[in-house]
Amino acid sequence: MAELVACLPGDGIGPEVLAQALRVLAQLPLDVETVSLPFGGAAIDELGDPLPADTLATCRSARAVLLGAVGGPKWDGGSVRPEAGLLGLRKALDVYANLRPATSGDIDLVIVRELVGGLYSGARGVREDGTVFDTLEYHPSQIERVVRRGFELAASRSGSLVSVDKANVLDTSRLWRRIVDELAPEYPNVRVRHALVDSFAMELVSSADRIDVAVTENMFGDILSDVAAAVTGGLGLAASASLGDSGPGIFEPVHGSAPDIAGTGHANPAAMLRSLALMLEHAFSRPELAAAVAAAVEDALVSHPTPDSDGHATTSEVGDAVLASLDKRLASLEETWTPAALQ
Ligand code: NAD
Ligand code: IPM
Ligand code: MN
Repeated sequence: MAELVACLPGDGIGPEVLAQALRVLAQLPLDVETVSLPFGGAAIDELGDPLPADTLATCRSARAVLLGAVGGPKWDGGSVRPEAGLLGLRKALDVYANLRPATSGDIDLVIVRELVGGLYSGARGVREDGTVFDTLEYHPSQIERVVRRGFELAASRSGSLVSVDKANVLDTSRLWRRIVDELAPEYPNVRVRHALVDSFAMELVSSADRIDVAVTENMFGDILSDVAAAVTGGLGLAASASLGDSGPGIFEPVHGSAPDIAGTGHANPAAMLRSLALMLEHAFSRPELAAAVAAAVEDALVSHPTPDSDGHATTSEVGDAVLASLDKRLASLEETWTPAALQ
Protein backbone atom coordinates (compact mmCIF):
# COMPACT_ATOMS: atom_id res chain seq x y z
CA MET A 1 0.00 0.00 0.00
CA ALA A 2 1.20 3.51 -0.79
CA GLU A 3 2.66 5.47 2.14
CA LEU A 4 1.23 8.94 2.73
CA VAL A 5 3.45 12.02 2.65
CA ALA A 6 1.63 15.10 4.00
CA CYS A 7 2.85 18.20 2.15
CA LEU A 8 2.57 21.66 3.71
CA PRO A 9 3.64 24.27 1.12
CA GLY A 10 2.94 27.28 3.39
CA ASP A 11 3.88 30.78 2.29
CA GLY A 12 6.32 32.81 0.20
CA ILE A 13 8.92 30.58 -1.41
CA GLY A 14 7.56 27.54 0.51
CA PRO A 15 5.24 26.41 -2.33
CA GLU A 16 7.92 27.24 -4.94
CA VAL A 17 10.57 24.97 -3.44
CA LEU A 18 8.16 22.25 -2.34
CA ALA A 19 6.94 21.93 -5.95
CA GLN A 20 10.46 20.84 -6.94
CA ALA A 21 10.58 18.29 -4.12
CA LEU A 22 7.32 16.80 -5.39
CA ARG A 23 8.75 16.45 -8.90
CA VAL A 24 11.76 14.62 -7.51
CA LEU A 25 9.67 12.43 -5.22
CA ALA A 26 7.51 11.40 -8.19
CA GLN A 27 10.62 10.20 -10.03
CA LEU A 28 11.73 7.87 -7.25
CA PRO A 29 10.96 4.14 -7.12
CA LEU A 30 8.90 4.59 -3.96
CA ASP A 31 5.22 3.77 -3.43
CA VAL A 32 3.98 7.08 -2.00
CA GLU A 33 0.85 9.14 -2.16
CA THR A 34 1.12 12.88 -1.51
CA VAL A 35 -1.52 15.26 -0.27
CA SER A 36 -1.13 19.03 -0.09
CA LEU A 37 -2.71 20.72 2.94
CA PRO A 38 -3.42 24.31 4.04
CA PHE A 39 -0.88 25.55 6.60
CA GLY A 40 0.63 28.79 7.87
CA GLY A 41 -0.45 32.15 6.47
CA ALA A 42 -2.21 30.48 3.54
CA ALA A 43 -4.39 28.58 6.04
CA ILE A 44 -5.08 31.76 8.04
CA ASP A 45 -6.36 33.35 4.83
CA GLU A 46 -8.44 30.31 3.88
CA LEU A 47 -9.67 29.05 7.24
CA GLY A 48 -8.60 31.54 9.93
CA ASP A 49 -6.23 29.00 11.50
CA PRO A 50 -2.52 28.37 10.69
CA LEU A 51 -2.86 24.70 11.71
CA PRO A 52 -6.38 23.58 10.78
CA ALA A 53 -7.62 20.43 12.54
CA ASP A 54 -7.82 18.48 9.26
CA THR A 55 -4.22 19.40 8.41
CA LEU A 56 -3.00 18.18 11.80
CA ALA A 57 -5.07 14.98 11.61
CA THR A 58 -3.66 14.13 8.16
CA CYS A 59 -0.10 14.87 9.32
CA ARG A 60 -0.57 12.54 12.28
CA SER A 61 -1.69 9.73 9.98
CA ALA A 62 1.14 10.25 7.47
CA ARG A 63 4.47 8.47 7.23
CA ALA A 64 6.22 11.86 6.98
CA VAL A 65 5.54 15.58 6.66
CA LEU A 66 7.30 17.64 3.98
CA LEU A 67 7.13 21.33 4.82
CA GLY A 68 8.04 24.41 2.74
CA ALA A 69 8.05 27.53 4.93
CA VAL A 70 5.60 29.84 6.67
CA GLY A 71 5.30 33.51 7.51
CA GLY A 72 5.56 36.89 5.88
CA PRO A 73 4.86 40.57 6.45
CA LYS A 74 1.24 40.13 5.36
CA TRP A 75 0.46 38.42 8.67
CA ASP A 76 2.58 40.63 10.96
CA GLY A 77 0.43 42.25 13.60
CA GLY A 78 -2.47 39.83 13.11
CA SER A 79 -4.10 38.15 16.10
CA VAL A 80 -2.67 34.80 15.00
CA ARG A 81 0.66 34.28 13.27
CA PRO A 82 1.63 31.65 10.64
CA GLU A 83 4.59 30.65 12.84
CA ALA A 84 2.14 29.53 15.54
CA GLY A 85 1.04 26.78 13.14
CA LEU A 86 4.61 25.55 12.77
CA LEU A 87 5.28 25.60 16.50
CA GLY A 88 1.93 23.87 17.16
CA LEU A 89 2.67 21.13 14.63
CA ARG A 90 6.13 20.44 16.05
CA LYS A 91 4.65 20.21 19.52
CA ALA A 92 1.69 18.06 18.47
CA LEU A 93 3.99 15.56 16.74
CA ASP A 94 6.51 15.90 19.61
CA VAL A 95 9.42 16.15 17.16
CA TYR A 96 11.91 17.15 19.83
CA ALA A 97 15.15 16.41 17.94
CA ASN A 98 15.88 18.70 15.02
CA LEU A 99 18.90 17.60 12.99
CA ARG A 100 20.41 20.46 11.01
CA PRO A 101 23.40 19.29 8.94
CA ALA A 102 25.83 21.77 7.44
CA THR A 103 28.35 20.55 4.87
CA SER A 104 30.75 22.21 2.49
CA GLY A 105 34.38 21.42 1.68
CA ASP A 106 36.04 20.25 4.92
CA ILE A 107 32.98 21.11 6.99
CA ASP A 108 30.65 18.24 7.87
CA LEU A 109 28.71 18.94 11.05
CA VAL A 110 25.23 18.44 12.45
CA ILE A 111 23.49 20.64 14.97
CA VAL A 112 20.99 18.72 17.08
CA ARG A 113 18.55 21.37 18.21
CA GLU A 114 15.98 20.72 20.95
CA LEU A 115 12.77 21.69 19.15
CA VAL A 116 9.75 21.71 21.45
CA GLY A 117 10.86 23.16 24.79
CA GLY A 118 12.84 26.02 26.28
CA LEU A 119 11.96 29.63 25.55
CA TYR A 120 9.59 28.55 22.81
CA SER A 121 7.14 26.92 25.18
CA GLY A 122 7.79 28.26 28.69
CA ALA A 123 5.37 30.45 30.61
CA ARG A 124 4.80 33.83 29.01
CA GLY A 125 2.64 36.80 29.71
CA VAL A 126 2.33 40.45 30.75
CA ARG A 127 2.65 41.67 34.31
CA GLU A 128 0.50 44.42 35.73
CA ASP A 129 3.28 46.96 35.31
CA GLY A 130 3.47 46.22 31.60
CA THR A 131 6.53 43.93 31.73
CA VAL A 132 6.33 41.24 29.07
CA PHE A 133 8.05 37.92 29.78
CA ASP A 134 8.98 34.65 28.06
CA THR A 135 10.56 32.02 30.27
CA LEU A 136 13.24 29.44 29.51
CA GLU A 137 12.13 26.20 31.13
CA TYR A 138 13.37 22.62 30.80
CA HIS A 139 12.33 19.46 32.59
CA PRO A 140 15.28 17.06 32.98
CA SER A 141 13.51 14.46 30.82
CA GLN A 142 13.25 16.94 27.92
CA ILE A 143 16.99 17.50 28.08
CA GLU A 144 17.87 13.84 28.51
CA ARG A 145 16.02 12.65 25.41
CA VAL A 146 17.59 15.16 23.04
CA VAL A 147 21.07 14.82 24.55
CA ARG A 148 20.81 11.05 24.01
CA ARG A 149 20.08 11.76 20.34
CA GLY A 150 23.24 13.84 20.24
CA PHE A 151 25.34 11.05 21.76
CA GLU A 152 23.81 8.43 19.45
CA LEU A 153 24.41 10.53 16.37
CA ALA A 154 27.99 11.27 17.41
CA ALA A 155 28.59 7.55 18.05
CA SER A 156 27.42 6.80 14.50
CA ARG A 157 29.77 9.45 13.06
CA SER A 158 33.26 10.37 14.24
CA GLY A 159 32.53 10.05 17.96
CA SER A 160 32.83 13.68 18.94
CA LEU A 161 30.06 15.68 20.61
CA VAL A 162 29.98 19.26 21.81
CA SER A 163 27.19 20.35 24.12
CA VAL A 164 26.46 24.06 23.79
CA ASP A 165 24.99 26.06 26.67
CA LYS A 166 25.26 29.24 28.73
CA ALA A 167 26.12 27.54 32.01
CA ASN A 168 28.01 30.60 33.26
CA VAL A 169 24.66 32.41 33.52
CA LEU A 170 21.59 30.16 33.22
CA ASP A 171 20.28 27.56 35.66
CA THR A 172 18.70 25.61 32.78
CA SER A 173 22.15 25.40 31.19
CA ARG A 174 23.70 24.12 34.42
CA LEU A 175 21.01 21.41 34.49
CA TRP A 176 21.75 20.67 30.82
CA ARG A 177 25.48 20.32 31.54
CA ARG A 178 24.87 18.03 34.52
CA ILE A 179 22.68 15.72 32.42
CA VAL A 180 25.30 15.57 29.66
CA ASP A 181 27.93 14.59 32.24
CA GLU A 182 25.66 11.96 33.78
CA LEU A 183 24.93 10.36 30.40
CA ALA A 184 28.50 10.47 29.09
CA PRO A 185 29.64 7.17 30.73
CA GLU A 186 26.89 5.36 28.80
CA TYR A 187 28.59 6.40 25.56
CA PRO A 188 32.27 5.45 26.08
CA ASN A 189 33.01 5.81 22.35
CA VAL A 190 32.00 9.46 22.29
CA ARG A 191 34.34 12.25 23.37
CA VAL A 192 32.17 15.00 24.79
CA ARG A 193 33.04 18.58 25.64
CA HIS A 194 31.05 21.61 26.78
CA ALA A 195 31.12 25.00 25.08
CA LEU A 196 29.53 28.32 25.94
CA VAL A 197 27.20 29.52 23.23
CA ASP A 198 28.87 32.88 22.62
CA SER A 199 32.32 31.49 21.96
CA PHE A 200 30.82 28.49 20.13
CA ALA A 201 29.22 30.93 17.68
CA MET A 202 32.71 32.24 17.00
CA GLU A 203 34.03 28.66 16.58
CA LEU A 204 31.34 28.02 14.00
CA VAL A 205 32.49 31.00 12.00
CA SER A 206 36.23 30.47 12.38
CA SER A 207 36.77 26.69 12.61
CA ALA A 208 33.60 24.79 11.73
CA ASP A 209 35.72 22.02 10.16
CA ARG A 210 36.66 20.89 13.70
CA ILE A 211 33.02 20.39 14.78
CA ASP A 212 31.19 17.09 14.28
CA VAL A 213 27.94 16.95 16.29
CA ALA A 214 26.68 19.81 18.47
CA VAL A 215 23.65 19.44 20.74
CA THR A 216 21.91 22.46 22.17
CA GLU A 217 18.67 23.98 23.40
CA ASN A 218 15.95 25.37 21.19
CA MET A 219 16.76 29.08 20.84
CA PHE A 220 20.55 28.61 20.71
CA GLY A 221 20.03 25.96 18.03
CA ASP A 222 17.80 28.26 16.00
CA ILE A 223 20.43 30.96 15.86
CA LEU A 224 23.49 28.71 15.52
CA SER A 225 21.95 26.76 12.65
CA ASP A 226 21.56 29.93 10.57
CA VAL A 227 25.23 30.71 11.34
CA ALA A 228 26.22 27.18 10.28
CA ALA A 229 24.21 27.65 7.09
CA ALA A 230 25.96 30.93 6.37
CA VAL A 231 29.43 29.34 6.59
CA THR A 232 28.43 26.45 4.30
CA GLY A 233 26.85 28.25 1.37
CA GLY A 234 23.80 30.01 2.79
CA LEU A 235 20.24 29.34 3.84
CA GLY A 236 19.27 28.19 0.37
CA LEU A 237 21.22 24.99 1.05
CA ALA A 238 20.39 24.17 4.67
CA ALA A 239 18.06 21.22 5.31
CA SER A 240 16.59 19.73 8.45
CA ALA A 241 14.83 16.71 9.89
CA SER A 242 12.60 17.09 12.95
CA LEU A 243 12.21 13.74 14.66
CA GLY A 244 10.35 12.28 17.62
CA ASP A 245 10.45 8.81 19.13
CA SER A 246 7.65 7.47 16.98
CA GLY A 247 5.19 8.89 14.50
CA PRO A 248 5.92 11.08 11.51
CA GLY A 249 8.92 13.38 11.31
CA ILE A 250 8.83 16.82 9.70
CA PHE A 251 11.33 17.44 6.91
CA GLU A 252 11.79 21.17 6.43
CA PRO A 253 14.39 23.62 5.19
CA VAL A 254 16.11 25.78 7.83
CA HIS A 255 15.12 28.89 5.90
CA GLY A 256 11.86 30.78 6.00
CA SER A 257 9.46 32.11 3.41
CA ALA A 258 12.02 34.61 2.04
CA PRO A 259 9.50 37.38 1.25
CA ASP A 260 12.27 39.41 -0.41
CA ILE A 261 12.59 36.90 -3.28
CA ALA A 262 9.17 35.17 -3.23
CA GLY A 263 7.54 35.25 -6.67
CA THR A 264 10.78 35.95 -8.55
CA GLY A 265 11.17 32.27 -9.48
CA HIS A 266 14.76 32.31 -8.24
CA ALA A 267 14.55 30.63 -4.83
CA ASN A 268 17.14 27.93 -4.33
CA PRO A 269 15.30 24.59 -3.88
CA ALA A 270 18.44 22.79 -2.60
CA ALA A 271 17.52 23.10 1.11
CA MET A 272 14.09 21.64 0.38
CA LEU A 273 15.53 18.86 -1.78
CA ARG A 274 18.13 17.99 0.84
CA SER A 275 15.26 17.84 3.36
CA LEU A 276 13.58 15.38 1.01
CA ALA A 277 16.78 13.31 1.09
CA LEU A 278 16.65 13.37 4.90
CA MET A 279 13.06 12.12 4.66
CA LEU A 280 14.14 9.21 2.46
CA GLU A 281 16.83 8.31 4.98
CA HIS A 282 14.92 8.73 8.24
CA ALA A 283 11.25 8.10 7.40
CA PHE A 284 11.64 5.53 4.62
CA SER A 285 14.97 3.90 5.56
CA ARG A 286 16.13 4.21 1.95
CA PRO A 287 19.70 5.56 2.33
CA GLU A 288 20.57 4.67 -1.27
CA LEU A 289 17.73 6.88 -2.58
CA ALA A 290 18.68 9.63 -0.12
CA ALA A 291 22.27 9.50 -1.38
CA ALA A 292 21.14 9.58 -5.02
CA VAL A 293 18.97 12.67 -4.41
CA ALA A 294 21.71 14.40 -2.39
CA ALA A 295 24.28 13.71 -5.12
CA ALA A 296 21.91 14.94 -7.84
CA VAL A 297 21.44 18.16 -5.85
CA GLU A 298 25.24 18.55 -5.66
CA ASP A 299 25.42 18.20 -9.44
CA ALA A 300 22.70 20.79 -9.97
CA LEU A 301 24.36 23.23 -7.56
CA VAL A 302 27.44 23.15 -9.77
CA SER A 303 25.69 23.19 -13.15
CA HIS A 304 22.74 25.48 -12.26
CA PRO A 305 23.55 27.87 -9.39
CA THR A 306 20.74 30.22 -8.30
CA PRO A 307 21.47 33.89 -7.48
CA ASP A 308 22.20 33.16 -3.80
CA SER A 309 25.03 30.92 -5.08
CA ASP A 310 26.20 33.60 -7.56
CA GLY A 311 24.34 32.16 -10.55
CA HIS A 312 21.26 32.93 -12.61
CA ALA A 313 19.29 29.67 -12.59
CA THR A 314 15.60 29.61 -11.77
CA THR A 315 14.02 27.32 -9.19
CA SER A 316 12.53 25.08 -11.86
CA GLU A 317 15.77 24.95 -13.88
CA VAL A 318 17.48 23.57 -10.79
CA GLY A 319 14.63 21.07 -10.51
CA ASP A 320 15.16 20.05 -14.16
CA ALA A 321 18.90 19.59 -13.57
CA VAL A 322 18.29 17.50 -10.45
CA LEU A 323 15.83 15.27 -12.33
CA ALA A 324 18.30 14.75 -15.19
CA SER A 325 21.15 13.81 -12.86
CA LEU A 326 18.88 11.64 -10.72
CA ASP A 327 17.72 9.75 -13.79
CA LYS A 328 21.29 8.59 -14.47
CA ARG A 329 21.98 7.86 -10.83
CA LEU A 330 18.83 5.77 -10.44
CA ALA A 331 19.67 3.82 -13.59
CA SER A 332 23.12 2.97 -12.23
CA LEU A 333 21.62 2.08 -8.84
CA GLU A 334 19.33 -0.35 -10.62
CA GLU A 335 22.31 -1.91 -12.42
CA THR A 336 24.17 -2.31 -9.14
CA TRP A 337 21.25 -4.18 -7.68
CA THR A 338 20.36 -6.50 -10.56
CA PRO A 339 21.14 -10.14 -9.79
CA ALA A 340 23.52 -10.21 -12.77
CA ALA A 341 25.68 -7.52 -11.23
CA LEU A 342 25.85 -9.44 -7.98
CA GLN A 343 27.29 -12.60 -9.58
P1 NAD B 1 14.37 33.72 5.61
O1 NAD B 1 15.06 32.45 5.91
O2 NAD B 1 13.02 33.63 5.00
O3 NAD B 1 15.28 34.64 4.66
C1 NAD B 1 16.56 35.13 5.06
C2 NAD B 1 17.39 35.50 3.82
O4 NAD B 1 17.79 34.30 3.15
C3 NAD B 1 16.60 36.29 2.79
O5 NAD B 1 17.44 37.24 2.18
C4 NAD B 1 16.17 35.25 1.77
O6 NAD B 1 15.97 35.75 0.47
C5 NAD B 1 17.33 34.26 1.83
N1 NAD B 1 16.85 32.90 1.52
C6 NAD B 1 16.17 32.08 2.33
N2 NAD B 1 15.87 30.94 1.71
C7 NAD B 1 16.38 31.03 0.46
C8 NAD B 1 16.37 30.16 -0.66
N3 NAD B 1 15.80 28.95 -0.62
N4 NAD B 1 16.96 30.58 -1.80
C9 NAD B 1 17.57 31.79 -1.86
N5 NAD B 1 17.60 32.66 -0.82
C10 NAD B 1 17.01 32.28 0.34
O7 NAD B 1 14.30 34.54 6.99
P2 NAD B 1 13.53 35.89 7.34
O8 NAD B 1 13.53 36.81 6.17
O9 NAD B 1 14.12 36.32 8.61
O10 NAD B 1 12.03 35.44 7.63
C11 NAD B 1 10.97 35.55 6.70
C12 NAD B 1 9.74 34.84 7.26
O11 NAD B 1 9.97 33.43 7.31
C13 NAD B 1 9.36 35.27 8.67
O12 NAD B 1 7.97 35.38 8.72
C14 NAD B 1 9.83 34.12 9.53
O13 NAD B 1 9.08 33.95 10.71
C15 NAD B 1 9.63 32.95 8.60
N6 NAD B 1 10.45 31.79 8.87
C16 NAD B 1 9.87 30.56 8.70
C17 NAD B 1 10.62 29.41 8.84
C18 NAD B 1 9.94 28.09 8.60
O14 NAD B 1 8.84 28.04 8.09
N7 NAD B 1 10.57 26.98 8.95
C19 NAD B 1 11.98 29.50 9.13
C20 NAD B 1 12.56 30.75 9.29
C21 NAD B 1 11.79 31.89 9.15
C1 IPM C 1 13.21 27.78 12.15
C2 IPM C 1 12.37 29.03 12.24
C3 IPM C 1 11.26 28.86 13.26
C4 IPM C 1 11.91 28.63 14.62
C5 IPM C 1 10.24 29.99 13.35
C6 IPM C 1 9.65 30.34 12.01
C7 IPM C 1 9.13 29.68 14.32
O1 IPM C 1 13.15 30.15 12.50
O2 IPM C 1 12.66 26.71 11.87
O3 IPM C 1 14.43 27.89 12.33
O4 IPM C 1 12.29 29.60 15.29
O5 IPM C 1 12.04 27.48 15.01
MN1 MN D 1 15.29 29.77 12.40
